[in-house]
Amino acid sequence: MTLHRRVLVVPAGLAIVVPAGLTLLAAALAAGVRLPSSCRNGTCRECRCRVLEGEVRHTIAWPGLDADERRDGWVLPCVAEPLTDLVLEQPRAARVDSP
Ligand code: FES
Repeated sequence: MTLHRRVLVVPAGLAIVVPAGLTLLAAALAAGVRLPSSCRNGTCRECRCRVLEGEVRHTIAWPGLDADERRDGWVLPCVAEPLTDLVLEQPRAARVDSP
């Protein structure tokens, strides 16, 4: 059985389904949702955003976040996979076809 997680990106209210094994960023792009990104390997922090509800795990041992940021819910979607359904706060998210 393939496990999918549902992610709601606020405040725009964009819904993404994340199949098992995809990062949040990859799943967003596949769903036509643009999230800020640059390096896509967890170092530049361009994609940094907050998880308001739910849990993620980072796919690399040392993503570019300090302990305070992690405790406050900051994540790097380019190297993060959802463990539960999520509400993600990213004010710069947009549909790919929007201006
Ligand atoms: S795109 Fe660089 S840390 Fe995510």
